[in-house]
Amino acid sequence: MYAPGELSPPRQRGALRMLASFVRRYPARSSAALLATFVASLFEGLGMSMLLSMLSITTDESGAPTGPQRLAMGALMRIGIEPRPGALLLAAVVLISLRGYMSLVAARQVGYTVAHIATDMRLTLIRATMRARWKHYLDQSVGGLSNAIATEAQRASESFQLGAEMAAMALTSIVYLVVAFSISPQAGIGAAIGGAVLLLALRVLIRKSRRAGQRQTQLQKSLLTLIASQFAAAKPLKAMAREEHVDALLTDETQQLERALRKQVTSKGALTALQEPMLAILVGTGFFVGTTVLKIPLAELMVMLFMLARVVNYLAKGQKAYQQLVIHESAYWSAMSAIDAAHAAHEPRGGDRPARFEREIAFQEVTYSHDGVQRLFDRVSLRIPARGLTLIVGPSGSGKTTLLDLIVGLREPDSGRVLIDGVPLPELDLRSWRRQIGYVPQESVMVDESVAHNLTLGEDVPEEKIRAALRDADALQFVEAMPEGLATRVGPGGSRLSGGQRQRLAIARALIHDPRLLILDEATSNLDPEAQQAIVETVSRLKTHMAVLAVAHTAMLVEAADQGGRPAGGRLGRRARGEGGARPGVENGQE
Ligand SMILES: Nc1ncnc2c1ncn2[C@@H]1O[C@H](COP(=O)(O)OP(=O)(O)O)[C@@H](O)[C@H]1O
Ligand SMILES: [Mg+2]
Repeated sequence: MYAPGELSPPRQRGALRMLASFVRRYPARSSAALLATFVASLFEGLGMSMLLSMLSITTDESGAPTGPQRLAMGALMRIGIEPRPGALLLAAVVLISLRGYMSLVAARQVGYTVAHIATDMRLTLIRATMRARWKHYLDQSVGGLSNAIATEAQRASESFQLGAEMAAMALTSIVYLVVAFSISPQAGIGAAIGGAVLLLALRVLIRKSRRAGQRQTQLQKSLLTLIASQFAAAKPLKAMAREEHVDALLTDETQQLERALRKQVTSKGALTALQEPMLAILVGTGFFVGTTVLKIPLAELMVMLFMLARVVNYLAKGQKAYQQLVIHESAYWSAMSAIDAAHAAHEPRGGDRPARFEREIAFQEVTYSHDGVQRLFDRVSLRIPARGLTLIVGPSGSGKTTLLDLIVGLREPDSGRVLIDGVPLPELDLRSWRRQIGYVPQESVMVDESVAHNLTLGEDVPEEKIRAALRDADALQFVEAMPEGLATRVGPGGSRLSGGQRQRLAIARALIHDPRLLILDEATSNLDPEAQQAIVETVSRLKTHMAVLAVAHTAMLVEAADQGGRPAGGRLGRRARGEGGARPGVENGQE
């Protein structure tokens, strides 16, 4: 059973590496966003220079023009405009408006990219999971997967926006730093030192946020895993009034999640609360040192301090974005590790030989163990002819379902080979083999769609064929008695059907594509004697033109069997059955 805390915390690989991976994956989108951001901060820097020039022209005519002043006035003169205060003001207004427009362009680029990243992560995870080996499916939790698709992909993609914000703030502060340097190197150095002090002093709050973010990621995942696994087993839980245990677990995890979210709020609040006074202290100290120690004229000092405040202010905003980023970061790595694991479990397509199944399935000295220790099959050899009913009997846990998995190619033998018409399974195009199989599992689960959809699984199949399959599975009568016949919805998981009805629909589903091999994994054990008899009749008819491989212990199927095998004591050997009216020794069950 699931134990909370079993999930390991997401592997942390660094926020900057995450951003780098975004840029690598979406180079065009990222550079467009960055470029728009850069141009926007450039416009802002230029616009501010114009404003400052205008200020110094109007207040201090005698002073030598400063760097940005020269730059601004030079730029105006180059396009043939006399650098008067009015012209400077107009230029500033135009530049600052342009800056607004470029910010809009950048924001749109970033927003689209965020949506794109989330979609991409979701589709990649879904596709990689669909293509993974069966073993990977079994190891997945539905909750963990839906959490990765819904929550983690969302949070991960938002970190692109936060990264872009951080980059924008960093760029703008660099532009201001350059402007500050050109006004006076002292102002530049002061701003650089002030910024560094701020970033270093508050680093501890970033670390706290990162930990709280990791905790959030971990808890959301385990909460959803817990809910999904417990809901799947809800019926006995309710029936035996044992839901408090689950309630307690869920409550505990939900409260832990709340604590993690509170910690995030606290460290975010603390960052803002500390940044502001630190900025004030920096400016105050600058003023004090400027007037008493360096004896800088007041007008010049005001401009320098203005630049210092701008640089530090933008760095502080960048730091805030970075703090948010590290809160989101763990979601990215968690979703990525789910994607990586699914990719690593990628199921090989097999060879390119199309599967033909005219003669037989053969096991040659097949050895298999689930855990690599205890052998379920030890050098088992057997043959299943392409016509007739082959029965596999054995106590539960003896490996019947595993044997079927080996035939379908959902699992691979540790040694030995499975051959279809003499061709080893790995050389076959695996999908072409599976498309010849009709599979009825032990527990049939339906999707919450119509009866028809559950049979065709969305493929276009003529209604006549659907009805024929239902008739063969002895299900037509009860389906026609349903309120909307074939169009009746079966409820989540097929909850509006009885176990036997579900099983008969599952048999119809297996028959609908005229399989060459029909696999029934204890498919009749849920059925009442009448329905079983109907299936036996169906199987007797079907086995003349296809192979039917049934795992069953019902006497009725034994009656119809052409040959039987018994997995026992870790050894499954084909054995002719001499009981219950089975015809022993039928090697090739064609009739
Ligand atoms: N995914 C798995 N990992 C480890 N052991 C497994 C797994 N699936 C089944 N087993 C074990 O392998 C044995 C055979 O299982 P299975 O083939 O399902 O038996 P049967 O269908 O005959 O009841 C059982 O002892 C079961 O505990
Ligand atoms: Mg089984």
